[in-house]
Amino acid sequence: MSGGVSIRPATPDDVQAVLDLHRAAAVTPGGLARAPHEISRDYVEQAIGGAGAVSLVAVGPDGGIWGEIHGRREGVALFAHVLANLTVAVHSQRQGLGIGSRLFAALIAHARAMQPPILRLELAAGAGNPGAVRLYERLGFQHEGRQIARGRYPDGHFEDDILMGLLL
Ligand SMILES: CC(C)(COP(=O)(O)OP(=O)(O)OC[C@H]1O[C@@H](n2cnc3c(N)ncnc32)[C@H](O)[C@@H]1OP(=O)(O)O)[C@@H](O)C(=O)NCCC(=O)NCCS
Repeated sequence: MSGGVSIRPATPDDVQAVLDLHRAAAVTPGGLARAPHEISRDYVEQAIGGAGAVSLVAVGPDGGIWGEIHGRREGVALFAHVLANLTVAVHSQRQGLGIGSRLFAALIAHARAMQPPILRLELAAGAGNPGAVRLYERLGFQHEGRQIARGRYPDGHFEDDILMGLLL
């Protein structure tokens, strides 16, 4: 279904497109943790090119960026095999086509090939995002914990965070 879409590492030339993608995805509540105004150019530059950053983009047949996934290698040597804080976004009109799954598959292959290799992936998903949790479960992520009332929305209601991990 996502034929014609190719996956490659993000480059500095992708900053604006990734910024637009994440801002658009953040408009729908209950998905990305950041609100649109919290997705700054600096945030994207760090996500793509900061220390320890790993970022892949899904490029559609039209040349547009349809999806992006990023994480960061932990800096402390004891945890340096861990890619943490994974964040993924697929353009709203391109969701459900397998692009998110393909971004994860490519990230896993990329992470295994890194030197030193990444051996563990970590992410947190809002409990109000069951679609994303189901996707992560299907990819093999294990439930590792729950942070009660970790999120608080502008209307004051709380949301738990679900911690998930995958050993490669
Ligand atoms: C979550 C997300 C990255 C999945 O990408 P995708 O390309 O749609 O995923 P795939 O097509 O490979 O897999 C489909 C699965 O993704 C999940 N999914 C699909 N649309 C979704 C949506 N709008 N929101 C959350 N999860 C969704 C579902 O588990 C779906 O499986 P299902 O059909 O059995 O319900 C994408 O929907 C998205 O960008 N959502 C908004 C941002 C977000 O929630 N990011 C994750 C934060 S933890």
